[in-house]
Amino acid sequence: MTILVTGGAGYIGSHMVWELLDHDEEFIVVDNLATGFKWAVPDGVELIEADIGDQSRMEKIIKKNGVDTIIHFAGSVVVPESIENPLKYYQNNTANSRNLIAAAVETGVKRMIFSSTAAVYGNPVTTGPIAENAILNPLSPYGTSKLMTELMLRDTANAHDLNYVILRYFNVAGCDVHGRTGQSTDGATHLIKVACEAATGKRSSMKIFGTDYDTPDGTCIRDFIHVNDLVNAHYHAVKFLRDGGRKFTANCGYSKGYSVREVVDTVQRISGNRFKVIESERRAGDIESLTANCNRLMTRLDWRPQHDSLDTIVETALAWEKNMVSGSLAPEIADIEHTDEVA
Ligand code: UFG
Repeated sequence: MTILVTGGAGYIGSHMVWELLDHDEEFIVVDNLATGFKWAVPDGVELIEADIGDQSRMEKIIKKNGVDTIIHFAGSVVVPESIENPLKYYQNNTANSRNLIAAAVETGVKRMIFSSTAAVYGNPVTTGPIAENAILNPLSPYGTSKLMTELMLRDTANAHDLNYVILRYFNVAGCDVHGRTGQSTDGATHLIKVACEAATGKRSSMKIFGTDYDTPDGTCIRDFIHVNDLVNAHYHAVKFLRDGGRKFTANCGYSKGYSVREVVDTVQRISGNRFKVIESERRAGDIESLTANCNRLMTRLDWRPQHDSLDTIVETALAWEKNMVSGSLAPEIADIEHTDEVA
């Protein structure tokens, strides 16, 4: 029973690799290293440099390694970038996933776990945590590209012997609690990573995008989930499918929202650095408030969060960022030049 992890050299994928090692699972990693890092895949784990869009190559890899389950992370993840370059997202997240699903069908893979996103909901029409049966109305090409793959997977599973779990991530953040891997991608845009870069001096300041939202402090609200809890949900999904589970979609979050300002304050408090924060215009494509109803994940997959505290998320993210600054990580990371994007 070999698991294939696509995107296993990336941020979430590399945490999945450690989760599988911790559970003594047999698995291989496929990554094209477009944004991932070779060093993020530990020694002894097979890393195959390949593109998931290359269907015939993927079929060969699957057959050769006896893959029976695919955990599919590979893709592009930045909402604003998807608005500027939609075709990149329809290629990387939709077209390439189509080819991977086709390779799975051709080779008889029975199980797939797919990384989807809260961005499929768009602006929720109801207040409070969103459940999976809410209206799906993505407002960015990123969200649409992921929803298209959800639908492809659903339809393909109806026509073939393929079962799946779709996990809709809310805001994934933090780094491995044992310090083994973290979020290393250069040119970060995600809030907690950006704030940690400001706290460690890689940026001279950061911006808060929009302070006039209809929220208690005027900034957007998000549901942040620690990356170790997220990958543990994937492990539960693998077990669910192995135990005969068939087709299942669930939100991944903590059902609790924090505002952008609360997050920035937390990073300043924990780092002890009151870095400069610039209040600026709203960012295109941002949704005012997004929190997850996670009852499905907890009841059907029997998942329980272990690190559901904003302080833990920030502490682990900061620890990783400090390692990167001190250069105690792999040389490729330490050598990266960090450009200060904030004027
Ligand atoms: N933000 C800032 N300053 C920054 C970066 C972000 O104010 O420097 C704000 C954003 O405007 C937004 C919030 O922080 O209001 C969160 O932004 P992120 O870029 O961290 O994350 P997004 O909510 O845009 O997107 C993330 C994932 C998506 C997922 C979505 C679901 O990237 O995959 O969460 O909530 F769909």
